[in-house]
Amino acid sequence: MQSLSEKVRVWDLATRLYHWLQFLLVMGALLIGFFGPEWFLDAHVYAGYGVLALIVFRLVWGFAGSTYSRFSSFIFSPRDILCHVRGVLKGRPSHHLGHNPLGALMVFALIGVLLLMLGSGLVVLGGVENQGPLAGFIGFDLGVRARFVHKVFAYLLVGMIVLHVMGVVLESRLSGFSLVRSMFDGNKPRPDIVHAAGDGFEPAGNADDMAGNAHPLPDVPARTGRAILAVIVSGAVIVGAGVLGSAVPASGFIDLPSNDNYSSECAECHMLYHPSLLPRDSWLKLMANLEDHFGEDASLDDSVTQDIANYLSTYSSEAWDTEAANELRTVDPQKPYEITATPFWKRTHARIDPTIFETRPVLSKGNCAACHWDAESGRFADQKIEIAHGQK
Ligand code: HEC
Ligand code: HEC
Repeated sequence: MQSLSEKVRVWDLATRLYHWLQFLLVMGALLIGFFGPEWFLDAHVYAGYGVLALIVFRLVWGFAGSTYSRFSSFIFSPRDILCHVRGVLKGRPSHHLGHNPLGALMVFALIGVLLLMLGSGLVVLGGVENQGPLAGFIGFDLGVRARFVHKVFAYLLVGMIVLHVMGVVLESRLSGFSLVRSMFDGNKPRPDIVHAAGDGFEPAGNADDMAGNAHPLPDVPARTGRAILAVIVSGAVIVGAGVLGSAVPASGFIDLPSNDNYSSECAECHMLYHPSLLPRDSWLKLMANLEDHFGEDASLDDSVTQDIANYLSTYSSEAWDTEAANELRTVDPQKPYEITATPFWKRTHARIDPTIFETRPVLSKGNCAACHWDAESGRFADQKIEIAHGQK
């Protein structure tokens, strides 16, 4: 007679590692996404790439893994699922050594939502931030729409994780053994023996029972060699596509020639603003009012003024598809050429302690370069933000 403690190896090592690594990376990406500062973007993106690698592995392992890791062991008919739900409602769910029908649905749903988050995330990265493998192909408007989708999926994912944990807690209680533990050691008690001992499970082999897997399934060995090969090949294809894509210049940028008059005359009192930071009309208004320039007389020779005005209006925000150019295109009608009075600027900088703008080394809201290392390039990448970046 077998002892009650007889265990079946359900989750192979690779599936367990996958599960816990995915847990860590997804939690990390979510926490950074919801609460992290902008300059943590790289960590968020790398966590995403990590999740992508894990999902590639999981898809391969779903065909090449050992018995219970294979998708074929947890694809259930709608009837099986309903039957299981009825059992759960009665507090006597049918037992499954591998995923139960609801757990299986959750596995597929989680993988699906994670893939959609990865896709939408890459579109945001490329369209809004002008970074990553899609930067050369995606415009700002599409990026903004993807940002909305990415957020909605993030909330959905949080809800699904909560449901997943509730399901694990519920099944652990009803079955009397911890599913969390079995995701660590890989083992579960043999259900047919547990049933014989008469605990809360539906008896296996019940006429009404689904074609479930209450009894251990016939052992299918993992095809590790083939799995490694498939992961390497698909990984190489994905990394190759990513490297090729990243080599395409970001679509939001154009070549900006320098202009001597602009560089020498307009950097005397403050940093040289990138022409993409204001729309054409604003630059023309500013250049027409240099004798009263924020309380200073900044007037210049007519020819120099004309040259700078031409330059700024040619390379104004309309010519770019960066985040800064798109967002700063909407100016405050009362202060049409004040970058720091635009609704976007005020919104994005609202959480910064206002005294920072008045003290060294920042000294002025308009001193973008004090906090944005890449301000002169017009990029304003999230990773290049550091409040009061070292300046005298
Ligand atoms: C004599 C000094 C002086 C010169 C020369 C000067 N500016 Fe300014 N500029 C200022 C001051 C002062 C402000 C307002 C305070 C601030 O934002 O730093 C300002 C603000 C600005 C702003 C608004 C920045 C914001 O905070 O939103 C822009 C844009 C600007 N200047 C463009 C130019 C251009 C273009 C030229 C060259 C034609 C120029 N400035 C030359 C002194 C000057
Ligand atoms: C005191 C430091 C500081 C100064 C000065 C400053 N910024 Fe920022 N900026 C920040 C911080 C911090 C953020 C991120 C805010 C957040 O999202 O919480 C930011 C965000 C931005 C963003 C959005 C970046 C993104 O990808 O989300 C843009 C664009 C931007 N700033 C432009 C400017 C411009 C243009 C100026 C100058 C006229 C300027 N900033 C001056 C600190 C500063």
